[in-house]
Amino acid sequence: MVAVAPENVEQVELERVPRHVAIIMDGNGRWAKARGLPRTEGHRQGTENLRRILKACVKFKVEILTIYAFSTENWSRPRAEVMMLMKILESVIDRELHELHESGVQLRHIGELDGISSGLQKKIHKAMAVTKDNRRLILNIAFNYGGRNEIVRAVRRIVQDGVPAEQIDEKLISSYLYTSDLPDPDLIIRTSGELRVSNFLIWQGAYSELYSTPTYWPDFNEEELRSALIDYGTRKRRFGKTDEQIATDG
Ligand code: IPE
Ligand code: IPE
Ligand code: MG
Repeated sequence: MVAVAPENVEQVELERVPRHVAIIMDGNGRWAKARGLPRTEGHRQGTENLRRILKACVKFKVEILTIYAFSTENWSRPRAEVMMLMKILESVIDRELHELHESGVQLRHIGELDGISSGLQKKIHKAMAVTKDNRRLILNIAFNYGGRNEIVRAVRRIVQDGVPAEQIDEKLISSYLYTSDLPDPDLIIRTSGELRVSNFLIWQGAYSELYSTPTYWPDFNEEELRSALIDYGTRKRRFGKTDEQIATDG
């Protein structure tokens, strides 16, 4: 799937590659509708596209890719579509785990396991255990994920752990999130033209650069990803400082 032999990796001249890229993979349904196909076909093509984008991320030397695959709000969709999205994750693990592992991809799941069938939960655990020592790319799959849910869950655990109020700070809260050991996303890409975050990484994305493209997810290819990364390279990340400060701090 993402088998890229190191000697074949084309050196891509990009100014500044984001370490952590997050993608809101949106527009599968509209992609299908535009072709007179059922939404399920859009999801199928969207999954195929993930292979290509993973490969491209390895090539561009992105270290962490977080993809939004199923939100806590997506439970409101028709039951058949929800079931199909569950099935897709299951078959991706069944079909691709071996090759992902061979390619050095570390699979992680972020999101609530409650609500997911025990069969799928087992597969998720297995995929994470098998790939846990891989270092080439961390692929974080946000599935049954919601940013608000993640924060509520963190607060509950902080209270359960009896943490005194004066010890609660931003660092502590970050350490209770799913992404506790990962840097915040540098770049969040959303396909299909929507300009909203839809409850994705709302804490971690506080200072992420945002990129939106009208392209529907199944058509978002390596060239589009390259454009997004090049665009990112032109951004000035100030983190609240002035341009003058940035110039002196380097
Ligand atoms: C993204 O595509 C996939 C998921 C949200 C699971 P959509 O299914 O949201 O496609 P549109 O937005 O209806 O076109
Ligand atoms: C966001 O897409 C969730 C995923 C991509 C999994 P949606 O299509 O569900 O988002 P909204 O509802 O249009 O904001
Ligand atoms: Mg959508």
